[in-house]
Amino acid sequence: MIRLIMNGLEVQAEEGWTLLETAQFYGLEIPTLCHNEGLTPWGGCRLCVVEIGAKPKTRLVSSCTYPAEEGLVVQTDTKRVIRARRMMIELMLSTAPMSKKIQDLASKFGVTEQRYPPRNEECVYCGLCVRMCDEQMDARAIGFQNRGHKRKISTPFDIRSEDCRLCGACIYICPACSARCQGPSAETDICNACLQIEPTCLEEYGELNCWMYDAGRCGTCVQDKSK
Ligand code: FES
Repeated sequence: MIRLIMNGLEVQAEEGWTLLETAQFYGLEIPTLCHNEGLTPWGGCRLCVVEIGAKPKTRLVSSCTYPAEEGLVVQTDTKRVIRARRMMIELMLSTAPMSKKIQDLASKFGVTEQRYPPRNEECVYCGLCVRMCDEQMDARAIGFQNRGHKRKISTPFDIRSEDCRLCGACIYICPACSARCQGPSAETDICNACLQIEPTCLEEYGELNCWMYDAGRCGTCVQDKSK
């Protein structure tokens, strides 16, 4: 057993537990976005940050990846922690302003100001879809591409991967596009973007779904042109 101090209380953690797991075991709430119990820790969204160490030498770490250590002093909800979380929510909100999950987080943390211009990328690069596809569906049909502002998630060479079994797990787990159109019922879905563009590929959807492609770029129309 590992003994550490969390919010002023002595707590115990099993060998191999993260700070997030320890906090959850003791009922301490820490918000998460890129974390999923069925997937390997990623540490990408930084929403789960906590403050470790003794003042004045404290630092912020992501609790979903940081291991519980003997004697560690941890604070889960200091002003600095809350400020960092609010900043991350604000950034994610600018990236995916239509995400219900991120809107809910903004509401919960009182983020009412939007200092960054909306980018409407509908992806916060949390890596949930990539890990889901690889680790749970054993497909590896999608992955990260490029760096910096060109970073995106797609299939190799941006063409539909033969490894994709159209299981929909990536859509299911995505916090930014989980409400995206599922095909023929676009009129009643939240995204609806494919109804606004020409040519529409709705008639050609068949059993295909929008998946992680931008609306209207499912590839069906490209295939048709080559016939
Ligand atoms: S939940 Fe820990 S970094 Fe995203």
